[in-house]
Amino acid sequence: MIFAIEVKQLVKSYDNKTRALDGIDLKIRAGDVFALLGPNGSGKTTLMRILTTQFKPTSGEAFIFGFDVVRQDAEVRKVISYVPQETSVWTDISGYENLLIYAKIYGIPSNHRKKIILEALESMGMDAVSDNLVKTYSGGMIRRLEMACAMLIRPKILFLDEPTLGLDPSARKAVWEKLISFKKEYDTTVFFNTHYMDEADLYSDEIAIINRGKIIKSGTADELKHSIRREVIQFSLGDHIVDKDVLKGIRGLDFVRDVIIHNSDISVVVEDAETALPGVMEVLRGRGIPVRKISTARPTLDDVFLKYAGTMSSGSGVSESRQAGSAGGKG
Ligand SMILES: Nc1ncnc2c1ncn2[C@@H]1O[C@H](COP(=O)(O)OP(=O)(O)OP(=O)(O)O)[C@@H](O)[C@H]1O
Ligand SMILES: [Mg+2]
Repeated sequence: MIFAIEVKQLVKSYDNKTRALDGIDLKIRAGDVFALLGPNGSGKTTLMRILTTQFKPTSGEAFIFGFDVVRQDAEVRKVISYVPQETSVWTDISGYENLLIYAKIYGIPSNHRKKIILEALESMGMDAVSDNLVKTYSGGMIRRLEMACAMLIRPKILFLDEPTLGLDPSARKAVWEKLISFKKEYDTTVFFNTHYMDEADLYSDEIAIINRGKIIKSGTADELKHSIRREVIQFSLGDHIVDKDVLKGIRGLDFVRDVIIHNSDISVVVEDAETALPGVMEVLRGRGIPVRKISTARPTLDDVFLKYAGTMSSGSGVSESRQAGSAGGKG
């Protein structure tokens, strides 16, 4: 099977000092949306620059649809587009003129240019403003224009380095909606770097977390969340006082890691809430304790990120709402 992207033991050292990539292995299926998450300086841009043939690796190999990014770089460039982290359009000319320049750079024949440019403008929702100077555009419009430029060649893989950096939530949503509909129409593989966990959660098929040049965890958003193995079930017990016996009963259950009492609420920290719930309910019922409300808090991708790439100690990777609920717990 040929993967859209295959990376084997990739290493990149800058000036023989900084080891920006320290043995990366990756396989990305054609048609997938892949998100790379990692702290500042973890190697995301370096990896993307190597995959887009701008930098050479120090050692290891990388392939784009089977083409070697070093030895077959010209072949690779025919099937990819790249939107860098920093602005890549000219601001003193119009959106249309930017696309025209890119169309010429890409070698799109002159009799096809207009049609392809208009399609790209339309698919990014930029047709109405295409004659305006780019310096009058908002950040979100500039990002969408850059994507329109990248789409001119109908790439098989679109590389986006922090595509929505600094955009407000509605501009981010607009960028992603356009991107996803383009992706569906042309079956493009998308590889993006981001610091926005919600975007990785919402739009990606696969996620990898990179830290200090190493991939430390990968999988679907659900797999990553599940890998934390820590959920909290919260029981509201009204006016009922929970005594030591009840606490002992719940703590004694196999799958319970911790129990925290807060006024008339108890928070039970478990590996999997669905499995644990009946057992805890049985203890409460057995002691005649009425339960008014039950809620569960599952890990978010923020928790996943903090656990694998954050500075918090392992095991403390729960979201704030749950930290409040488990204040005083062992963690
Ligand atoms: N051209 C360069 N020369 C020397 N060192 C570099 C160069 N580019 C990046 N680095 C170093 O390589 C490491 C990885 O940087 P990189 O830009 O790939 O990280 P990143 O994950 O994209 O960070 P960010 O989230 O801030 O964009 C950092 O230590 C950085 O200082
Ligand atoms: Mg970067």
